[in-house]
Amino acid sequence: MSTNSNPNHIYLIGFMGCGKTTWSKKLAARLEYEFIDLDTVLVERVGKSIAEYFAEHGEEEFRRLESEVLKQYPYPEKAVISTGGGLPCFFDHMDWMNTHGQTLYIKLSPKTLADRLENARVVRPVLQGKKGDELVAFIDGKLAEREGFYNQATHILDGLTLNVDDMAALVATS
Ligand code: S3P
Repeated sequence: MSTNSNPNHIYLIGFMGCGKTTWSKKLAARLEYEFIDLDTVLVERVGKSIAEYFAEHGEEEFRRLESEVLKQYPYPEKAVISTGGGLPCFFDHMDWMNTHGQTLYIKLSPKTLADRLENARVVRPVLQGKKGDELVAFIDGKLAEREGFYNQATHILDGLTLNVDDMAALVATS
């Protein structure tokens, strides 16, 4: 039995580079729900990139603002919501998302994440320009810290074998 207050609010969570934005867009199109990217909402609100915001205000202030954006966004009735990779791991966010909607964790190995992040164009301040083995080791450690939160998701999905039909079927049964 579901305890979600609105199962039509679907939050995609997972480490940087796991494909949250791409999969959220695909799932939103498939379900004909609205697509919302909370990182983009934050960037539009402050009028600067996340890297600039981190540099000027620091991580603590970023996390406070990220929390405000998550909890105060005027969500439409039906939405697929892409979240920042750290968001589930701060404050009560996992509980909050699981009670206000449902969460999908897109799981990938540190090596796969590192390969994807090395080729990414967006600057991620948390990674501080790390590359190669150093990047894999960093992700390994960070993921170990974060997985306790990610694993509280309503559904855990293998990011390598994922497809949008399975995702749509899964969220419909929650
Ligand atoms: C962060 C992930 C980023 C962004 C910020 C911090 C993190 O989002 O919110 O740079 O702590 O993992 P993506 O997961 O969309 O890259």
